[in-house]
Amino acid sequence: MHPEKQHHELEPKIVAFVCTWCTYAGADLAGTSRMQYPANVRVLKFPCTGRIDPVFILRAFQRGADGVLVSGCHPGDCHYMAGNFHARRRFAAFRQLLEFVGVDLNRLQFSWVSAAEGGKWVEVVTELTERIRVLGPMTEFKELETEEHWSGALDTPELQEAYGSI
Ligand code: FES
Repeated sequence: MHPEKQHHELEPKIVAFVCTWCTYAGADLAGTSRMQYPANVRVLKFPCTGRIDPVFILRAFQRGADGVLVSGCHPGDCHYMAGNFHARRRFAAFRQLLEFVGVDLNRLQFSWVSAAEGGKWVEVVTELTERIRVLGPMTEFKELETEEHWSGALDTPELQEAYGSI
């Protein structure tokens, strides 16, 4: 099969971690306004982006997400004052870790979407879905699993004896 066609046919699985005050309300507005956007996104809401543990992003990728979106209130609009600033700093460091473990950072999107920006939600989701379609399915962690499986060969009687003596 032609690779471009294959990508075109992929329906990416995207997980969106959003804050309830702004982005969730914006997504809701898009829905109630009957705006059209790809149905590839599973939305998980949190009180604030400051409450989104970066490990959740890793878990989403490990459990089969092809892309992850994190979105909250615009700078200065966080209902918990500086939650989104803390989140931004944390995620900036976390991006480097993801890159280190082999995740293509194009699969991860951060954005600010307010409660009034249903149209922006549609744009962000549409753009991310199209980008993931071109990238294809997320296979990085599957490759890691294969390597882990291979390393099982290190579980030799000699090593078991060595472990026993620790
Ligand atoms: S309440 Fe929305 S980012 Fe903090």
